[in-house]
Amino acid sequence: MVAPLRSDSPPVSAPDNPCIALFHPRVYNQPSVEFWLRVTSGMIGQQKRELRALVATWIELARDANQAREIEIVHQPVYLPGLPKAFDGYLVAQLSDIHYDVHHGSFADEDHIEAAVRAINRIRPDLVVLTGDYVTASVAHIQPLAEMLAEIEARDGVFAVLGNHDFWSGADRVARALRRQGIAMLRNAHTQLRRDGEGVALLGVDDSTVLAHDLAAARRGVPEGMTTILLSHNPTLIGRAVRSGIDLMLSGHTHGGQIRLSPRSSRRRRSLWQGWRRFGPTQLYINRGLGTVVLPVRFQCPPEITIIELKCGSPRDRRWRFLKKREMGRRRTSLR
Ligand SMILES: [Fe+2]
Repeated sequence: MVAPLRSDSPPVSAPDNPCIALFHPRVYNQPSVEFWLRVTSGMIGQQKRELRALVATWIELARDANQAREIEIVHQPVYLPGLPKAFDGYLVAQLSDIHYDVHHGSFADEDHIEAAVRAINRIRPDLVVLTGDYVTASVAHIQPLAEMLAEIEARDGVFAVLGNHDFWSGADRVARALRRQGIAMLRNAHTQLRRDGEGVALLGVDDSTVLAHDLAAARRGVPEGMTTILLSHNPTLIGRAVRSGIDLMLSGHTHGGQIRLSPRSSRRRRSLWQGWRRFGPTQLYINRGLGTVVLPVRFQCPPEITIIELKCGSPRDRRWRFLKKREMGRRRTSLR
């Protein structure tokens, strides 16, 4: 309501909507400065209310669309030419980028992490690998996180590498807390997984974002010709992995982009964003992560647990067989 402006003028009653009030015939004839100020302030107030309502609606819609708590379990077969027969069908569960720290209330809470741990245990993997970024900016909550991760069950154990956020927050404290809970840290080191007298080398490097990686040190002592799986938080290490003859590299770091407005564009750019790729003889899998950074939001990019199934065989042969089958199908169609 716009109040009367001058004591000598007749009382003016304008509609509630300031846009109408501005051109209301009864007030239009009294264009004093005070009048315009009142009308303008009324308009701003109205706009603020409308803006607030709009923002509230958008927040509600964003909450409904937010996939930050919808964990997707991705099954990814990986064919490795030199894989020992004893490892055919070997299941490796990968968890990455949990980001549990001062922001954990809204970013990654206990329920979310415990749900992931339960999901992994239900699958009963042979091995579990953690590919870094347990925290975002503080190690204050690493102890409860390490205790939650200690609940993971895997026949050959749980192995972990560190991410850039762990280094920025306190790499040694993160590593110590995980180690105390029985999680083996691979810091520019390797171990051998054994099955029926055969072995696969599992290597892990410190994060390359902070230039703490040393792949040569991690590789030192790995028997020639042995199948190698490398854990590297940052997937940009793929070039070195290829040159070093790594068979499979498992990474995180990207969060898959976290918010993907166009799935088509992200498919085009996915080479180092998420999922499986092949670079010559080396295969790479990038896990989208469990937590979030910057915003506690995921859109068209849910959190992920990857179940890598190792298979004997060559991916090239497999693709060739697929192309040949498709070609045969085409030929058959053209003959009709
Ligand atoms: Fe991360």
